[in-house]
Amino acid sequence: MEKLAIYPTPEELATVFADKLINMVKNKTDHEFHLAISGGRTPDLLFAVLAKKYQREDLWAKVHFWWVDERMVPPAHPDSNFRVAKELLLEKLPIVGENIHRIKGENHPETEARCYSVQIQEKLPQKEGWPVFDLIVLGMGDDGHTASIFPDQMELLVSDQVCAVATHPASGQKRVTLTGKTINNAANICFLVTGSGKAERLREIKNSPDLADSLPAFYIRNAEWLVDVAAANLLG
Ligand code: 6PG
Repeated sequence: MEKLAIYPTPEELATVFADKLINMVKNKTDHEFHLAISGGRTPDLLFAVLAKKYQREDLWAKVHFWWVDERMVPPAHPDSNFRVAKELLLEKLPIVGENIHRIKGENHPETEARCYSVQIQEKLPQKEGWPVFDLIVLGMGDDGHTASIFPDQMELLVSDQVCAVATHPASGQKRVTLTGKTINNAANICFLVTGSGKAERLREIKNSPDLADSLPAFYIRNAEWLVDVAAANLLG
């Protein structure tokens, strides 16, 4: 684990990270800022802070929103990561539709994985043949998954595809996810991890590589980890 910062509460973490994200966007002057956001509920607080504190910023015109992963359900479905981001953030910002690149959960998973890969390759700058996101914001599940790369699908960490189809191990729900190589090729990667449910995995990733080698999040390199006290309580 490269860089770790611990915050008293999820709210303080979200506020600090929102400021950090905005500064990154402001400092990117040469072209668009390609941001990929994760699903789950941890980003909710970040979305709320961005919508409240930075709603009127004119910098949003250069931000392109992408998704790290999506549940293959229609965009209005309760499980849709796009729906959450749209309601909590996108609808509140002065951004144009062309800058919102959702994974179309209503499509056939394999088809959408290919389509989204092509979109990313066409719009993002490349490094060594891989697309370069300016910032990828990740979460981590209680089982150590990140994006939709689950412990029983570790091959997605080394896939040669930009995006791939994943299957939730418990529900069987199909997902489209960025793969490990795409994620690791980003200019900046930040994990936002809060809550005591993540504490054991975080301890393994930080202190016990022998235990962490079965956790997908362990294989994301050069990431900055922003965690709250509850998630960090086993780090010692
Ligand atoms: C998803 C996410 C997933 C999420 C983790 C953490 O679509 O579910 O992309 O990887 O980041 O499961 O979820 P929470 O933020 O809800 O703890």
